[in-house]
Amino acid sequence: MKQELLYEGKAKRIYKTDQENVLWVAYKDSATAFNGQKKAEIVGKAQLNNKISSFLFSMLHKKGVETHFIQSLSDSEQLVKKVDIIPLEVVVRNMTAGSLAKRIGVKEGIPFSNPIVELYYKNDDLGDPLIIDEHAIFLEAATADEIQFLKEQALSINEVLKQFFKDKGIQLVDFKLEFGKTASGDIILADEISPDTCRFWDIETNEKLDKDVFRRDLGTLTEAYEKILERIGG
Ligand code: C5P
Repeated sequence: MKQELLYEGKAKRIYKTDQENVLWVAYKDSATAFNGQKKAEIVGKAQLNNKISSFLFSMLHKKGVETHFIQSLSDSEQLVKKVDIIPLEVVVRNMTAGSLAKRIGVKEGIPFSNPIVELYYKNDDLGDPLIIDEHAIFLEAATADEIQFLKEQALSINEVLKQFFKDKGIQLVDFKLEFGKTASGDIILADEISPDTCRFWDIETNEKLDKDVFRRDLGTLTEAYEKILERIGG
């Protein structure tokens, strides 16, 4: 049963439940970009992201990836295991795009021979800066062994997702993961995997089917997200 609100983020509200170590997640219809500088209410986004994320977490679970996802509760709500979020955003990139393309001055869409993993420090006041492993260790965000584990997990999740989306005619350009520690100390995948947190390009047309539609005013966000949901068959 849903109890008091514990935390409200940009895209989700997290509630306590009557079960120990179980949380209730309600996705929101809000879209934000550029660390909250651009905002909009987009009716239907909560349902799309909840459905896509639930589907992808279930699929990863079947492939042996441990995640916080327990079950979907309604079109826009799900039950998850309570974790302490590790304050690192783990970004995996298969091609140049977004902030990386800008930072190193290259065009988007150049494939890497091996995927690149980056760490960003989760801190709104600092705008989630890109950091190196030693910074993360100094900040006590994670130990060296934990960072190695996060990177290995992120790369194996990339292999599963990349192939899954390729079979649906979608290029997985890059994505962001968050991990958390359970009460028993295990590190598992948390947060969400959705078009808010991934770049998806149509393999044939290069059409963008992710939050860049909103960030860059390329069209209707829900139409793009609906295409992803349809393609994955969720
Ligand atoms: O902006 P950037 O190119 O660094 O983003 C890389 C990937 O991580 C993109 O798929 C983006 O949607 C995701 N991301 C995210 N949340 C952030 C930053 C990036 O989901 N705070």
